[in-house]
Amino acid sequence: MYPLAGRVAIVTGASRGLGRAIALALAGAGADVALAARSKADLEETARLAAATGRRALVVPTDVARYEDVEALVARTLHELGRLDVLVNNSGVAKVVPLAAATAEDWRFMLDVNLTGVFNGCRAAGPHLIAQKSGKVINLASVLGQVGLTGYTLYAATKGGVMALTRSLGVEWARHGVQVNAMAPGWFVTDMNEAAFGQPKLADRLLRDVPMRRTGRLEEIGPLAVYLASAASDFMTGQTIFLDGGHSAG
Ligand SMILES: NC(=O)c1ccc[n+]([C@@H]2O[C@H](COP(=O)([O-])OP(=O)(O)OC[C@H]3O[C@@H](n4cnc5c(N)ncnc54)[C@H](OP(=O)(O)O)[C@@H]3O)[C@@H](O)[C@H]2O)c1
Repeated sequence: MYPLAGRVAIVTGASRGLGRAIALALAGAGADVALAARSKADLEETARLAAATGRRALVVPTDVARYEDVEALVARTLHELGRLDVLVNNSGVAKVVPLAAATAEDWRFMLDVNLTGVFNGCRAAGPHLIAQKSGKVINLASVLGQVGLTGYTLYAATKGGVMALTRSLGVEWARHGVQVNAMAPGWFVTDMNEAAFGQPKLADRLLRDVPMRRTGRLEEIGPLAVYLASAASDFMTGQTIFLDGGHSAG
């Protein structure tokens, strides 16, 4: 019934969207959760919802692009929740801009959050997970790490980087009993893309790439996170699992 009972999970980007859904699913499966993002008020709302499942929820305002913030997040989780078993590196940003019009600032902005943020999480939690000889790292990649789309080249490069980091770190930490996998969602309507999906013609165009012709439902992301966080996935590492209505297969 509660595959994550007694476990502690950090979820970054837990203030809204997929991160909030993942945090609530992990709490629903029995984990205590440390909730990280920049917006304290939104994290507190996630914590209120998580507490309704009967689990402990710790709010830790964090900018994942800043290593010292992420180091403090791991330290507070260990100190206040007593252990760390699962790290979900979910924080992400997407600015839609053709490469020829992009600035160095656009590039750095997406790289800093989407890829350096994942590196920072793994680097800060790694020594602890390696020492305890167990742990689950779950990174958020994207279908656009695999499939091209005009305007998304910078974002795609960061997510391709997440997939490569996941593959290689899965190999590197296999001997330490730590599994590293990624989830690659297709389109889920969140703050990240609601402006695009609010335009019927553009939404139609985007859904033409998706064999199921629909976006994902927020409740469809949690079960995969619970699977990757639990002992059920102990023989899986270095993988990116696509949850995309067939988008990457089409
Ligand atoms: N929605 C989709 O269709 C889709 C598809 C594929 C992959 N993804 C990936 O899934 C993840 C979640 O996306 P989403 O759709 O839920 O987007 P979202 O609703 O815009 O949420 C993004 C989350 O990231 C956090 N964040 C942004 N910058 C941050 C920073 N510097 N430090 C810490 N946290 C930061 C935000 O919190 P604050 O603003 O409070 O910091 C927020 O909680 C992202 O990695 C995204 O690339 C999404």
